[in-house]
Amino acid sequence: MKHRVMKTSAGVGLRLQHLSAVLEDRPSAAWFEIHPENYLANPHAAEMLAEISRHYPVSVHSVGISVGSATGLDRTHLYRVKSLIDAIDPVLVSGHLAWSTHEGEYLNDLLPLPYTDESLDLISDHIDEVQDVLGRAYHLENPSNYLGFTGSTMPETAFLNEVVRRTGCKLLCDVSNIHVSAHNLGYDARRYIDELPGEAIGEMHLGGFEMEMEPSGSSVIIDTHARPIDPQAWDLYAYAVSRFGPRPTLIEWDSAIPAIDVLLREAAKADAIAVAVLEETRHAVAV
Ligand SMILES: [Fe+2]
Repeated sequence: MKHRVMKTSAGVGLRLQHLSAVLEDRPSAAWFEIHPENYLANPHAAEMLAEISRHYPVSVHSVGISVGSATGLDRTHLYRVKSLIDAIDPVLVSGHLAWSTHEGEYLNDLLPLPYTDESLDLISDHIDEVQDVLGRAYHLENPSNYLGFTGSTMPETAFLNEVVRRTGCKLLCDVSNIHVSAHNLGYDARRYIDELPGEAIGEMHLGGFEMEMEPSGSSVIIDTHARPIDPQAWDLYAYAVSRFGPRPTLIEWDSAIPAIDVLLREAAKADAIAVAVLEETRHAVAV
């Protein structure tokens, strides 16, 4: 039976190596998130995904819809993603506040952009177009940052608030990205969360990261998605739940990917934290 409502509990990233195990074992996952780019040239995997989507809620997270591209959206790619979306009818569609294509060339990374009136116009126009083509709300994800732009004229949170106001899009709040950016750029992660429009947040992400020491003695956190969630990210997640309430939350793990049971244990931990935060909040209100 198809579940039409995304549960507020935690889901896990479904990667190609998990497809057979999920179809055979039907693990008790609340929902799965997929990258459509992994299925567009793989009809066998797309068939398996269609079967999985009949039994689990699926969220589509595109890493190739480049809403920040100064040379325009890649409409060929957008319409290919739309075909997959039409086939599996996901409960949620998301992508990054970034650019990864330039004049038709795919770049290997999600690249940042300066927060200015000009980029606000560009991103808002692109999100309007994406939402028109897909016929559904797009969830825009905050990036992990390693360097600030001296050309930015507003903070990232002001930029996101204005994009939401102009386009009616939703936000995907990546809690780990906030921790990474706050460390690397030297701002307060909790204050960042306080500045987000809570009612627009339709999903949260949690992913593993690693700290590297620079020759200068300072440290930089790299958003590797290759290890368990860090205790500091769990703490920030608890704060985000206290601020926004529970939201569907994804455990992101994109390289050195473990067996699905490991991901499900991380998802259960996210659920337990959310329950504990809500209990605490209820207790605080009652007292
Ligand atoms: Fe993320």
